[in-house]
Amino acid sequence: MKNSIKVFAPATVANVVCGFDVLGFAVNEPGDEVIMQLTDKPGVVITKITGDNGRLPLDASKNTVSASVQHYLHHINRPDIGVSIELHKKMPIGSGLGSSSASTVAGLFAINSLMNNQLSANELLPFAMKGEELACGYGHADNVAPALMGGFVLIRSYEPLDIIRLPHPDNMYAAIVYPEVDVPTKDARQMIRSKVLLKDAVTQWGNIAGLVSGLFMKDFDLIGRSMTDVLVEPTRSILIPDFYKLREIALSNGGISFGISGSGPSVFAFAKDENTAHNITQQIQQHLSGLKIGSKAFISKVNEGGPRILD
Ligand code: HSE
Repeated sequence: MKNSIKVFAPATVANVVCGFDVLGFAVNEPGDEVIMQLTDKPGVVITKITGDNGRLPLDASKNTVSASVQHYLHHINRPDIGVSIELHKKMPIGSGLGSSSASTVAGLFAINSLMNNQLSANELLPFAMKGEELACGYGHADNVAPALMGGFVLIRSYEPLDIIRLPHPDNMYAAIVYPEVDVPTKDARQMIRSKVLLKDAVTQWGNIAGLVSGLFMKDFDLIGRSMTDVLVEPTRSILIPDFYKLREIALSNGGISFGISGSGPSVFAFAKDENTAHNITQQIQQHLSGLKIGSKAFISKVNEGGPRILD
């Protein structure tokens, strides 16, 4: 049996504008890395975290990576196993790109590989959702499901869990910009209204159905015009510097859609080719630097594979 492993798990764009908590896709970069080693001493420890500026807990019961590995070992009835974990954050925390999910999924994928893949990706999902609950108070699956399974996913139902892989146009690029302001998911969830008007619900489910149809039909126009969010974006957009100007920039530079990635502050646009995606991120970054806000940009197709073993 292999006794050490290095795993990468990808960042994700959750919600995909109109699908709050039910839609998400994985990207090729950024992502996080976990190095895991089996040891003789039963129990799970975190020995090192890099790239987090000291923000993440080393306490194994509080860190989402180790806590979900503990749950996993408990579930497969192997409390005798000893595990030491190094977490290397390669992406910003609190960015709206599924930072905690990428770490948690890398950890779960690593331990499951070391335990000869006893559980399927579907069976690992509830452990990853527990990690999200620890990170932000609610076990939403729209980051962890695509991080774990790769691709574009729909969470058709939470109880029972029903995850559907969706197709998408091959040449669809996500142009992602992370403005360097902090938006913790926990706070961004608390500000959302819990009651919605029926007329807004009608608009929203029309758009979700339109987006899913557009993905199946590989119809960029339908995808673009369906990516409108009347429930969450009007509230959360105030957390993002000059959000509506950034939208104008994305759409006037060839973007087919624009919106918040997850709970923000990252924003993203879909584009039909890589050059357009580059141009959109450049123009958005230029605007943000005019506002004296630093930013990072990522361009990616949908990541089909999810987590992967590096060593
Ligand atoms: N669906 C979650 C939310 C995603 O919007 O709060 C968080 O990244």
